[in-house]
Amino acid sequence: MTEDVLIVHGGTPLQGQIRVRGAKNLVSKAMVAALLGESPSRLYDVPRIRDVEVVRGLLGLHGVKVSDGAEDGELVMDPTNVESASTDEINVHAGSSRIPILLCGPLLHRLGHAFIPDLGGCHIGPRPIDFHMKALREFGAVVDKTPEGMHLSAPNGLHGAKLELPYPSVGATEQVLLTAVRAEGVTELRNAAIEPEIIDLICVLQKMGAIITVHTDRVIEIQGVPKLYGYEHKPIPDRIEAASWAAAALATRGEIEVLGARQTDMMTFLNVYRNIGGELKITDDRVARDGVTGAEGGIKFWHPGTELKAVALETDVHPGFMTDWQQPLVVALTQARGISIMHETVYEQRLGYTEALNSMGATIQVYRDCLGGTPCRFGRRNFMHSAVIAGPSKLHAADLVIPDLRAGFAHLIAALAAEGTSRVYGVNLIKRGYEDFEQKLAALGAHVERP
Ligand code: EPU
Repeated sequence: MTEDVLIVHGGTPLQGQIRVRGAKNLVSKAMVAALLGESPSRLYDVPRIRDVEVVRGLLGLHGVKVSDGAEDGELVMDPTNVESASTDEINVHAGSSRIPILLCGPLLHRLGHAFIPDLGGCHIGPRPIDFHMKALREFGAVVDKTPEGMHLSAPNGLHGAKLELPYPSVGATEQVLLTAVRAEGVTELRNAAIEPEIIDLICVLQKMGAIITVHTDRVIEIQGVPKLYGYEHKPIPDRIEAASWAAAALATRGEIEVLGARQTDMMTFLNVYRNIGGELKITDDRVARDGVTGAEGGIKFWHPGTELKAVALETDVHPGFMTDWQQPLVVALTQARGISIMHETVYEQRLGYTEALNSMGATIQVYRDCLGGTPCRFGRRNFMHSAVIAGPSKLHAADLVIPDLRAGFAHLIAALAAEGTSRVYGVNLIKRGYEDFEQKLAALGAHVERP
């Protein structure tokens, strides 16, 4: 535990430029997609984060040769000799990520069977996989649950199906895409997730030879093809990381330019940022305007110097306000004058981290009721899923233990905004999704150190 602590001397505005690379929640899926190809794939701008290492390990176990390309952040994946991995080897990855579940379809296509260990990921609710399993069964997969995990087979092959998700789940939509592309016949998926990362995954699959149509009203149609090939792809930038740094600029009264951030994927966030009083400038037209080689744009975010304003918000599926933007932004909302409301409608237990903010001087109360928006799935089910934030509060230093990835970054921002010296335990968890965050903090002038 001692190595896994960061000492944060707070109270200094973060100022400067940092860069975001490919989105964690696309890169890991694009890596899984490589398994479906008959030839090598090349993915650019891959961040050095732990989730990428987990998928790299899983692909490696299944005979995919993964190597670094010539460019920084380039990954080459050669799936020519896909093979079965032993249950013991795969189980080393149990509990470390949610990604293994997405290997089901590709492994069934390539090998005729798959083994999936117990899943991990952030502890932000029960995170069931019932939608995934139901869809796989409808494609023709046979699932055998054992104490160590799930064994899947497809004795009669995988066939296109008419499916409808009870909720537009990101993972279940990806599951269907990765399975349907090589299933025999046509698949129609209703109530699909349409997050930018999903659309980017569809782009990857189309590059591989898939035929996928995105209709209006969350309907996706996939025409199965017998073979897919390798792809070359530069992923969409990480809009969760970009928003996290934007929130850090507000909370610490600083100014951060996030190079690589893209306006189109973040419009909902940018509107909210402005409503709070945050200032922003899109700088991605700089390259075109200046024509300077090597010049790179993004989005610059800064504190207005005047008081921030309270807002009422609810998280939702795309194009709503992302659940992963919620935690860092709540830290900034502790600095806004008035009463802010955050209604979390995607995960039922994603507000636990507010206790730590209260221990630092924030005034946040959580409720079971659906506050500030439309009633959601969690309203009558006893989940503390609405937060009322009264501000502004002067935050003071504290010892904090990081519970999960996004809440962890929120803890870090709170410590940076607070007066005094905080100790943040469990910071290595942040490496799951934030590349080089300590180097980035140093570049922004933060006073942080390892003991
Ligand atoms: N759900 C079910 N059954 C299922 C699948 C999902 O009930 O079989 C429910 C979940 O419990 C949740 C809701 O559906 O209440 C949405 O879950 P979803 O499947 O959309 O989430 P996910 O695919 O597991 C991805 C991201 C999350 C992000 C969500 C929502 C990855 C690896 N993870 O999770 O990212 O919060 O979509 O956008 O892509 C993160 O990056 O920190 C993170 C947690």
